[in-house]
Amino acid sequence: MPELNELNINAVKESFKEALKTVTNLAGLDDLRVRFTGKKGDLTLLLRSLGKLPSELRKEAGIELNKLRDEIEHAIDITGKKIRDSENEKQEVSQRIDVTLPEKGRVSGAFHPVIQTMHEIANIMQGLGYSVATGPEKEEEFYNFECLNVPKWHPARDMQDTFYFPDGTLLRTHTSPVQIRAMLEYGAPLRIICPGKVYRRDNDTTHSPMFNQMEGLLVDKNVPFSVMKGTMAEMLNAFFGKSLKYRFRASYFPFTEPSMELDIECVECSGHNEHCRVCHGTGWLEVAGMGMVHPNVIRAGKIDPDEYNGFAFGIGLDRMSMLKYGISDLRLLFDGNVSYFLSGFGGVERC
Ligand code: DAH
Repeated sequence: MPELNELNINAVKESFKEALKTVTNLAGLDDLRVRFTGKKGDLTLLLRSLGKLPSELRKEAGIELNKLRDEIEHAIDITGKKIRDSENEKQEVSQRIDVTLPEKGRVSGAFHPVIQTMHEIANIMQGLGYSVATGPEKEEEFYNFECLNVPKWHPARDMQDTFYFPDGTLLRTHTSPVQIRAMLEYGAPLRIICPGKVYRRDNDTTHSPMFNQMEGLLVDKNVPFSVMKGTMAEMLNAFFGKSLKYRFRASYFPFTEPSMELDIECVECSGHNEHCRVCHGTGWLEVAGMGMVHPNVIRAGKIDPDEYNGFAFGIGLDRMSMLKYGISDLRLLFDGNVSYFLSGFGGVERC
């Protein structure tokens, strides 16, 4: 314990003053407080040694020491307040918001054009009384081919180069197997659409190994060919928002008889530009395959083809979205780079 005398009191006072000058933050101030007024602090030790002084000196030394303690505590309080004030101010400046700054712009999310197309066509078809049905993407050969009148030996299997799994199942090559699943589940009469992903071993500038289709199936009694034509025309006009010219071309699908492909007037040039990049001067665009459902297919759905008939169609959704939204390259639909869409595609808005 230090010996208590005037020299010691002054020395503590001076060393406190010096140390205080070096304090720059609250942690440093706290260290200082402990060093002087803590349990083993310089000032505390002097206070403790008061008792050893002869009584005639004790009173005066006590007054001195208490004065010094008040001074030290006061100085610590004042310095603490100053440090806190300046820290608050620094924080306030760094967090200050300039409400007059111009906004940076914000891009809102949007549906992918193919999904948007899917929703739009589904809405139109739902308006015509169709319900949405679904089926698995990992499908059985039975539903994907056999039930659709495509036996193993059938050359039409080559039209759809297939991804097979080792267990003999496959990635569905079209949404047509959902026709069978829906007939088996719901029976007749029936009106369904089935949008979804399909897969084929194709990969070049105009083909992707995964693409999107919308299947449609209507089964009822005495369904005339004209209802199919009217339904397709209705759907196309509603989707493109204008009355387009269309034509049916005779075609072949094993699951329909007769079979057709549907072409619409080129949405880009209406047949007036022989160099058109969309129709290549033909004036027509192929958008769907369709036909009157083959009796074997109705039968595979456990419905009597002598009592019921119907029509079915398959629409290429990627193609439809490209036509509607003026997307020139199929690969843009599957590319991670969204700048093309941000720069003008109608579904994205800046706000
Ligand atoms: N499944 C055919 C394909 O992927 C498209 C198709 C054609 C679907 C005719 C149908 C149809 O329902 O009747 O190429």
